[in-house]
Amino acid sequence: MLIIIANVLVLVVTIILLYYVTSGAPYLPTTDKNVLKMVKFAGMKRGQKILDVGSGDGRIVIAFAKAGAEAHGFEINPILVWMSRRNIKRAGLQGKAFIHFVNFWKRDFSPYDLVIVYQITHLMKKFQKKFEKELRPGTKILCNSFFLPDWKAIKFDKPLYLYEKVKMRKSKLKS
Ligand SMILES: C[S@@+](CC[C@H](N)C(=O)[O-])C[C@H]1O[C@@H](n2cnc3c(N)ncnc32)[C@H](O)[C@@H]1O
Repeated sequence: MLIIIANVLVLVVTIILLYYVTSGAPYLPTTDKNVLKMVKFAGMKRGQKILDVGSGDGRIVIAFAKAGAEAHGFEINPILVWMSRRNIKRAGLQGKAFIHFVNFWKRDFSPYDLVIVYQITHLMKKFQKKFEKELRPGTKILCNSFFLPDWKAIKFDKPLYLYEKVKMRKSKLKS
């Protein structure tokens, strides 16, 4: 009986781990130096809506909210959601910074003026397709460390790549 329970537990843990590994990057926070660099590099205007895709402990959302954005983060890890909401409260940024406990693949990115991505190489093509489908022309995308395979960056300074969504041709959107 104990062996059966142990096997079921191992199976459940494996499925959960597989789900996390295939849906996005593991938690690795951006360095404080690069967080500051990102705020300057993005050229965001006050009042714009920004999204951090996989927001970790909320450091990027907090930095952009401090710089005048309405900053949102999507995060799947409940512990990081709790930590980042606590950090937002400590920084007095309620009403300017928001963390949503969601899987980012299930959310629409179209309301945002700037989308920030620090994920992983094998998912960048999938992100690119999502951006082509959902983002409005003029939306900026800031990638940390991993680039979009078929888009040309408008600005690059290692490890940051800045892109701007242009109007897509219908044929391109279909593919
Ligand atoms: C490399 S870390 C980046 C954290 C933060 N953006 C930063 O730069 O410090 C990637 C984050 O994405 C989150 N993540 C991975 N897959 C996700 C998914 N499908 N939906 C929401 N968050 C996800 C992870 O939990 C992790 O916090």
